[in-house]
Amino acid sequence: MLEFQDVTLKVDENGKEITILDNINLQLERKKIYVITGPNGGGKTTLSKLLMGIRIPTSGKIIFDDEEITAMNITKRAKLGIGYAFQQPPRFKGLKVRELLELAAKADNNQVDFCKLLLDVGLCPQDYVNREINNSLSGGELKRIEIATILARKLKLALFDEPEAGIDLWSFQKLVETFKKLHDENDLTLVIISHQERIIELADEVIVVADGKIKERTSKDTILSEVTLESACGCSSKFCDRRR
Ligand SMILES: Nc1ncnc2c1ncn2[C@@H]1O[C@H](COP(=O)(O)OP(=O)(O)OP(=O)(O)O)[C@@H](O)[C@H]1O
Ligand SMILES: [Mg+2]
Repeated sequence: MLEFQDVTLKVDENGKEITILDNINLQLERKKIYVITGPNGGGKTTLSKLLMGIRIPTSGKIIFDDEEITAMNITKRAKLGIGYAFQQPPRFKGLKVRELLELAAKADNNQVDFCKLLLDVGLCPQDYVNREINNSLSGGELKRIEIATILARKLKLALFDEPEAGIDLWSFQKLVETFKKLHDENDLTLVIISHQERIIELADEVIVVADGKIKERTSKDTILSEVTLESACGCSSKFCDRRR
C-alpha cells in the first residue's frame, strides 16, 4: 500500500551538501503494524516527514495505493487517509480539546465519542473535554491530545513518532492497548517510531533505520533478543562492532 523507491534526501548546510536519507527502498503492506527503530539521528523522523509531505525528497518516488504522492502536499495526503502524530506536538492555540477532536473527525466524516477517545489516551474526559489548548497543558497532556486527534480520524495509514515521549508509565500502558485496539478494529496500517520494548512487541515487522539507511527489516523477537544480548555485554548500542 506504501512504497518508497530509491528515496534520497539531501540538504544544504552552510554550503555543504549532507545526505539525511540515502536511497531508501521500502514496501509496507496493508493492515500490518510496523515499528521503526534505530539510534538517535538515524533518520526516522525525517522518513516520516517524507511520508507526510512535510519534506519532499531530492530524488526517488513515494507511492501510496498505486498513486504517486512524491510531490503531493500535506493536505492532499491527509485527504488520502495518511495521518501523523509528531514527536513534539504542535500547539493548536485557542481551540478547546473537544473542538480540535471535532475538526479531526469531521475531516473524514467520522462519528466519534469524545469521551471514549480521551479515555483511550488515558485522559479523564470530564477534566479535559472543555479545556482550552494553551500553555497550561503539560507536554504529556498535549502529546496525548494529539494522539487522540489521530484516533478521531478514519485513516488508511497512521504514523506515530515516539508516542512514548513524555508519557508516564500508566498512560503508556493504556496507549499500548489503544494501539492494539485501533489496529484490531480498523482496516489500517500502523507505523510507530519507537524505542520501547512494549511497542516493539506489537510489531508484525521491525524496521531499523540508522545513518540514513534501512539497516534491517526483522521480527520483533530478533530485535528483542538482540537488546538482551547488548545488555549482557555491557554495550548500549545495537551498532557497536563488539556486539556479540
Ligand atoms: N534540515 C536539516 N539540516 C541539517 N540536518 C538535518 C536537517 N534535518 C534533519 N537533519 C539531521 O538528520 C539526521 C536525522 O534526523 P531525524 O530527526 O530524522 O532523526 P531520528 O532518527 O528521528 O532521531 P531521534 O531518535 O533522535 O528522534 C540528524 O542527524 C539531524 O540532525
Ligand atoms: Mg525522531
